Amino acid sequence: MVLSNREKIIQLLAQNMHTYVSGQWLSDQLGISRTAVWKQMKHLKEDGYHFKAVPNKGYRLIDMPDKVSENTLFWGLDTDVLGQMLEYHDQLTSTQDLAHTRARENKPDGYLIVANSQTNGRGRLHRAFRSENKNGAWFSFILRPELSPVEAQKITLLTAVSLVRTIKQKTTLEPKIKWPNDILIGDKKLAGILTEMQAEQDQIHYMVIGVGVNINQRLEEFPEELRQTVTSLLVETDERFKRRYFIQDFLKHFEALYRTLLTDGFKSIKQEWEKHAFKLGETLDYRLGKEEKTGVFVDIHDSGALLIEHEGKTERLYSADIHW
Ligand code: BTN
Repeated sequence: MVLSNREKIIQLLAQNMHTYVSGQWLSDQLGISRTAVWKQMKHLKEDGYHFKAVPNKGYRLIDMPDKVSENTLFWGLDTDVLGQMLEYHDQLTSTQDLAHTRARENKPDGYLIVANSQTNGRGRLHRAFRSENKNGAWFSFILRPELSPVEAQKITLLTAVSLVRTIKQKTTLEPKIKWPNDILIGDKKLAGILTEMQAEQDQIHYMVIGVGVNINQRLEEFPEELRQTVTSLLVETDERFKRRYFIQDFLKHFEALYRTLLTDGFKSIKQEWEKHAFKLGETLDYRLGKEEKTGVFVDIHDSGALLIEHEGKTERLYSADIHW
């Protein structure tokens, strides 16, 4: 990545947020004059960067604007693989589409695509996912797991647990996971997950995991028809969150859980999932084939399927329509 002087200064300051760096040191590092450094600092202040400047010590970066870019996503990203190669776009039709293209071009495990807005975001069952707004986190990444296709659902559940961990790390909210792919606060949707894959009978070629999280939208910014059913972190907490930190923290949680899955199996992830499951133990109406039924949501199966007890029998649901 070729960085401009401005980007290099931000990078050096971001790497040294615990200390002060002098104007002279910055000018030596960049091979530019002190005056040129000073001018860059002035522009950065105008753009919403906050510094503490102490005579004889230099500058310390205190805060950065909520700017999402390849650079800001990369700085401070504490993962080994996930997101270590990434692309950021101001606007895409859907990060899913581009991630599929990149996967077919053989981009590696963990390759990340982030968009500021999507004109044709999509959700499960070919539903539209409204994500034109620039205050959400919309991203997709490629995985090349050594799992059989029947186990792919575990990745959706693992993604949900990663989102729960990220939200709990940042807020006092109590997120719930609505099987298989929604994160709710109360009964309103905060985030959605879309897991897609290219596979043969017993081998996954690649998966694309798409995540959409409502972060800094005010209720009025959502389309009117959604305002009763969706929410954002801002609506719930009255606080604004930095989208890039949310994405970085999510990736770190995901990577840790993914490693757990591959080394120790699904058990502990399933337990964590169950602790946050929406309506676990409650009676649900659902449709199986052409039949309308009622049963108790008792558990999830190790394959990630939903288990419903109906007339003394346990039924396994993969994608049946549950009337939540
Ligand atoms: C759902 O609610 O059914 C899933 C929504 C998934 C939305 C994310 S946003 C990033 C990625 N790009 C898309 O078009 N969809 C996923």
